[in-house]
Amino acid sequence: MSRAAIILAAGAGTRMKSKKPKVAHCILGRPLVQWVCHAAKDAGVDKLVAVVGHKKEQVIPLVEEDCDIVIQQQQAGTADAVMTGLSAEALEGFEGSVVILSGDSPLITSDTIKALIDAREQSGAACALLTMELEDPFGYGRIIRSSSISDQSVACDGEYESSRVLRIVEQKDGSEEELLITECNSGFYCFDAALLREALRSVSTDNAQGEYYLTDVAEILGKSGYLCIAVKAEDPEECLGVNSRVQLSVATTILQSRINVKWMKEGVTMVSPVQTWIGPDVELSEDVELLPNVALLGKTTVGTDCVIGPDSRLTDTQVGERCIIDETVAVEAIIEDDATCGPRAYLRPGAHLMKGSKAGTHVEIKKSVIDEGAKVPHLSYIGDAHIGKDVNLGAGTITCNYDGQNKHHTEVGDNTFVGSDTMLVAPVNIGSDVVIGAGSVITKDIPDGSLAVARSRERIIDDWARRKKFSKE
Ligand code: UD1
Ligand code: CA
Repeated sequence: MSRAAIILAAGAGTRMKSKKPKVAHCILGRPLVQWVCHAAKDAGVDKLVAVVGHKKEQVIPLVEEDCDIVIQQQQAGTADAVMTGLSAEALEGFEGSVVILSGDSPLITSDTIKALIDAREQSGAACALLTMELEDPFGYGRIIRSSSISDQSVACDGEYESSRVLRIVEQKDGSEEELLITECNSGFYCFDAALLREALRSVSTDNAQGEYYLTDVAEILGKSGYLCIAVKAEDPEECLGVNSRVQLSVATTILQSRINVKWMKEGVTMVSPVQTWIGPDVELSEDVELLPNVALLGKTTVGTDCVIGPDSRLTDTQVGERCIIDETVAVEAIIEDDATCGPRAYLRPGAHLMKGSKAGTHVEIKKSVIDEGAKVPHLSYIGDAHIGKDVNLGAGTITCNYDGQNKHHTEVGDNTFVGSDTMLVAPVNIGSDVVIGAGSVITKDIPDGSLAVARSRERIIDDWARRKKFSKE
């Protein structure tokens, strides 16, 4: 059976105090709204609709790959937002389960979404809503169950305590007695799509906020003889919304820990998980060891037996097996088996360390291949170059790849030895088995097997220094 989800992402999120719309703020490199899309997709939902409005030009690019998009012209309330969502082309004539999710609630898991769908479908209810027990329920909608019928609890997945919900009362509309209730509406629902459409027609703005409340649907369905059940969240943390920067940091810590626990269970060592940040799309292997202050982001992958850190950040970088990466920043780089980096290496896009090669201390590499076994150990900038197999570049070797207008290529043949503090002025071709004297400025191609020295000759003036010193006295 086909399942749909409507993701509400039209709100302003004023408490973030940001130029960016709330749902565009990121956790571990992924925007809030995309966390929700992923959870829905992983739960087997195959039709996703995003309702956008506030700063939609910034939200649409984040969801258009996964979702059909509808625009809510005015934020007239959650019922209006859902009605807008149901008007999406993808949902025309749709029947079956439709899940309502908030674009600012990145902690919801696919398991919980699945459980909500199952609870509704198995019980035959018109609506299953996710609720949570909170010590401080202030601000949330409260769940009113009928005590007279609450013992007719609905048979559904035994893990959950579910029963008939009469209505939901918002904070601003509740009586003193109702506001004492601690079971709250999480804002996640699964509805029968046809019955939801029908019930939404009866929602009015007759309430304290003058908004169309989606929560009114519970009572409307009940009065028409349909069943609305509550599914209590096992962990209320999943329902946490992000409304402020403080909540953004809380959600970050929770997702960071979920991901870290998952990888530790898969055989990754983390010396200090609180100082380890792994993006949701990263792939790690068994026996990877992560030292403190490591961030692995984007589509980074790491092979077995690598040690990374301390103090390293790898983004969209592929790392082979048995690599040692110490105090390194790498972006869109490839590091093959047995290569070593750092401390303090900077690998920029297109840096490619082949098997067993080395980018050492204070070394920057951009768009260059460091071939098998080649070493760039200290204080170098290598850009737009191919450094051949087993080459050794002395400390301070620099490719002068930019003439102020264009970038040029440097080629260094296999087994060549480049003395310290050498400038390789590109475009230039250096053969294999070459030796270059320290301090050279190389502007001409060098044939295989030769020696090149390009520096001013050293002059020795006998006794000069001693005389100078003597004359001072
Ligand atoms: C809503 C629920 C409340 C529940 C709480 C959980 C209603 C009336 N109340 O309250 O029972 O406890 O969520 O967090 O539904 N949105 C739109 N368009 C609109 C209005 C809202 O897209 O016109 C989006 C918001 O961006 C947000 C979500 O819907 O992502 C929820 O709206 P919000 O105004 O935050 O609802 P609450 O007042 O928190
Ligand atoms: Ca509101």
